[in-house]
Amino acid sequence: MLGSMSSYTLATSDRHRQLTAPTRDPKNGSSTRAVLTANTAGAKAEKTRATRMNGPVIEVRNLVKRYRLGKNNHVHALRGASLRVEAGEMVAIVGPSGSGKSTMMHLIGCLDTPDSGDVIINGRRTGGLKGRELTTLRSTEVGFIFQGFNLVPTMTALENVALAAEYAGLPRRASRARAADLLELVGIADRAGHLPSELSGGQQQRVAIARALINRPSIVFGDEPTGDLDTATSDEIISVMRTINRETGTTFVLVTHNPEVAEACDRTIRMRDGRVEDDERPARVATIA
Ligand SMILES: Nc1ncnc2c1ncn2[C@@H]1O[C@H](COP(=O)(O)OP(=O)(O)O)[C@@H](O)[C@H]1O
Ligand SMILES: [Mg+2]
Repeated sequence: MLGSMSSYTLATSDRHRQLTAPTRDPKNGSSTRAVLTANTAGAKAEKTRATRMNGPVIEVRNLVKRYRLGKNNHVHALRGASLRVEAGEMVAIVGPSGSGKSTMMHLIGCLDTPDSGDVIINGRRTGGLKGRELTTLRSTEVGFIFQGFNLVPTMTALENVALAAEYAGLPRRASRARAADLLELVGIADRAGHLPSELSGGQQQRVAIARALINRPSIVFGDEPTGDLDTATSDEIISVMRTINRETGTTFVLVTHNPEVAEACDRTIRMRDGRVEDDERPARVATIA
């Protein structure tokens, strides 16, 4: 059943990260930031991250990617795309279908590798990383949200959220406690025991947002995160992401066709024919509180 999560990163266990159990205070309804920094290892990771935060959280230079379609045939998906995203920004990537948006997101998220060019995440060139380092980076620095939610259909909401923490080496009980906190954060604590098929599209996407946050990534990527939702639900999901971004400083990069998503973001990066055509710089650069 994990096939349905094929593009979601299921990291192998990482014994270097022996995480301690999160401290919880469900009665007092802990703040978003507390939920996201609730354990020692998380706080440590946050600190390490902060020391690297002098530069941008994402830097992409001259990215080139071709997909082979046959013997002498290939598609030039990226033709030298460059961009920068500062820590704590929420940016939209827009552009015509086929302009390379998803490819760009997959390369930044280390789900795929470029033919040439650099991806630098928190100051580290991902091209220079070996298998294990890359797996760790993928499981701890980035989270993904997809248009079709991509939840494991046989697992409850809570299990779906906890899964990636267990893969990253957090003990089961701690993973579940943290998953419960995150479900509360996204407003569906009461649906924790339900299967995806028992949830509305909006509820499923909230589960997916909680899942994306489980390993305290510095960046959450969304590929058309509101693409399968009606307008009202889409607005709710936008607002959940915006709140998490503001309160935690988690960077959001959202590939979207939805003008309302783009409007909610700090800026819009426009792609065309495998290049970044236009990158509206904001007057104000978001900072982490
Ligand atoms: N796995 C793949 N194999 C072959 N061609 C692909 C693959 N993924 C994307 N492409 C092609 O690369 C180009 C860019 O695709 P994509 O990044 O998905 O664009 P967008 O997300 O902007 O619609 C398109 O021409 C698409 O058909
Ligand atoms: Mg796409």
